[in-house]
Amino acid sequence: MIPSRDAVEMFTDRNRSYVRFINLLRYPQGLRAFFRASPLLRSGLHVLDAGCGTGVVTLALRDALLAGGFETGVLNAFDLTPAMLERFRETMHARSIEGIELERADVLELDSLPSAWKGYDLIVSASMMEYLPRDRLADALAGLRGRLNEGGRLVLFITRQNLLMASLIGRWWDSNLYRRDELREAFARAGFENVEFRGFPAAFRHLDLWGHIVEASG
Ligand SMILES: C[S@@+](CC[C@H](N)C(=O)[O-])C[C@H]1O[C@@H](n2cnc3c(N)ncnc32)[C@H](O)[C@@H]1O
Repeated sequence: MIPSRDAVEMFTDRNRSYVRFINLLRYPQGLRAFFRASPLLRSGLHVLDAGCGTGVVTLALRDALLAGGFETGVLNAFDLTPAMLERFRETMHARSIEGIELERADVLELDSLPSAWKGYDLIVSASMMEYLPRDRLADALAGLRGRLNEGGRLVLFITRQNLLMASLIGRWWDSNLYRRDELREAFARAGFENVEFRGFPAAFRHLDLWGHIVEASG
């Protein structure tokens, strides 16, 4: 079990190495390719990124929307670690990106978010739920489910339980790892009725070794 306070310390101390690590794996490009191929994209989407970190997922999704000729809608994102949010702000500034609202918040205490932060068409969350105590995963999913509008989707990227990830992510990045059946159970406990497992596009198949992609609604 990894308490979130430890995750905050780790991502404060090691946010630069995190960015180097994900760039090495071509994770940002993989996320962008996944969203480019996703039928969920359309103009004006209301999107929340839960545990946004340095903004890799929000920015991949934004890039995919723009590349697909869609207009961006509401883009909100939150994270628990101020240093990660600061890096996200620096990137937005460097790329002259406006219109993404950021907040510091804990996914297990969503009431601290602005009252307007609800009714999302799409909630994305990547590589964050691994840092919650395992017995709180379903609570976190249920909290996010409560912020979706009718017909809204949650897309979760989360590290797999396998030998390679146990040493590469589990030990190195102090992360919990999950099996597909554990995720199915957590999504069911959170009240989701439809749960599908997806994969990365062909050029990024190596990322399937790392993580599950779960798309859920209902
Ligand atoms: C591995 S990073 C992932 C960041 C980003 N989503 C990505 O895919 O690159 C994990 C992030 O989860 C955040 N985090 C950990 N526990 C959290 C919690 N309880 N609520 C919100 N964010 C949390 C950390 O602060 C960190 O920025």
